[in-house]
Amino acid sequence: MMKLLRPCTRNNDEAYVNFNWDKLGFGLTPTDYIYIMKISGKDNFSEGSLSRYGNIEISPSAAIFNYGQGLFEGLKAYRRPDGGIQLFRPELNALRMKNGADRLCMPSPPVDVFVDAVKKTVLANQRWVPPPGKGSLYIRPLLMGSGPVLGIGPAPECTFLIFTSPIGNWYKCGPSMSLYVENEVPRATPGGTGAIKSITNYSPVFEAVNKAKAKGFTDVLFLDAATGKNVEEVSSCNVFIVKDNVILTPPTNGTILPGVTRKSIIEIALHLKYKVEERDVPLMDVLTADEVFCTGTAVGVTAVASVTHYDKRVEYRTGEKLVSQKLRVMLTEIQTGVVEDKMGWTMQIH
Ligand code: COI
Repeated sequence: MMKLLRPCTRNNDEAYVNFNWDKLGFGLTPTDYIYIMKISGKDNFSEGSLSRYGNIEISPSAAIFNYGQGLFEGLKAYRRPDGGIQLFRPELNALRMKNGADRLCMPSPPVDVFVDAVKKTVLANQRWVPPPGKGSLYIRPLLMGSGPVLGIGPAPECTFLIFTSPIGNWYKCGPSMSLYVENEVPRATPGGTGAIKSITNYSPVFEAVNKAKAKGFTDVLFLDAATGKNVEEVSSCNVFIVKDNVILTPPTNGTILPGVTRKSIIEIALHLKYKVEERDVPLMDVLTADEVFCTGTAVGVTAVASVTHYDKRVEYRTGEKLVSQKLRVMLTEIQTGVVEDKMGWTMQIH
């Protein structure tokens, strides 16, 4: 692909906050503005608006607090080499939020409203989009049942809110991770909410992840609830294996989150003429794979250095020349505007 490395053409003093970009990890750094829109019916949207970052007022009987009626999304804004700013496939996050909202009986912002709100929020916080190579601006859209309820049922009013934070790497471990196979607790169950980005999918994994971290692992690899034989996901990302030059990942059949990075990596792999199969991936195949890697907005594409099942530890090659490395480089070069985006995935907003 053609490299588009151009010098920064914008005035640095205006473009950035005074901040030590070299210290960025995956932690919250509040930025200047949040976006809020109230939705009280299918087509009943208030005018969304930006306000200064800060606490919001919400009823103690809001459905999100009492019954977990809430969704989140995660996407990033990237600084291009020329100082401009771009988003990566934001319409896919909008569509995923809509699917989740249907499942949780909430009205959701239409795709164009979602994308416009993301653009406005990023532009209001543009001084916080890190310089090229230093990280990205993580964008966190939330949709929540904010109206009061007591009996079981959807909230009469929902709130669509967006906040942002500059971030660096998700894992402190660096370019590769060590996974521990969780044998008792599944992440998702058939018929449940594993395929949507419900807030209720995440706190149930804390215990297993904390236990694995206490043993020195980076994260947990969950098995399917129905048979306990197939791998499903890591706490916050999708999983892939490479075996005999074929790329495999579990299918999005209801318990797997349809990740935007997952989809993009499959499309890049097909573009590069790899054979890709979305099918059940038995743990046995993982333990005999040539490569294992994870994908997600927060983790990007991260190679897995080891998988431990009870006391069996399997190690994988990491570093240069891996399939995952090739895919990661192509994806990040498109996302950050280093190469021309022939896929048509990026949206330049500044
Ligand atoms: C993301 O990758 O955006 C996620 O949703 C992971 C999140 C738990 C930080």
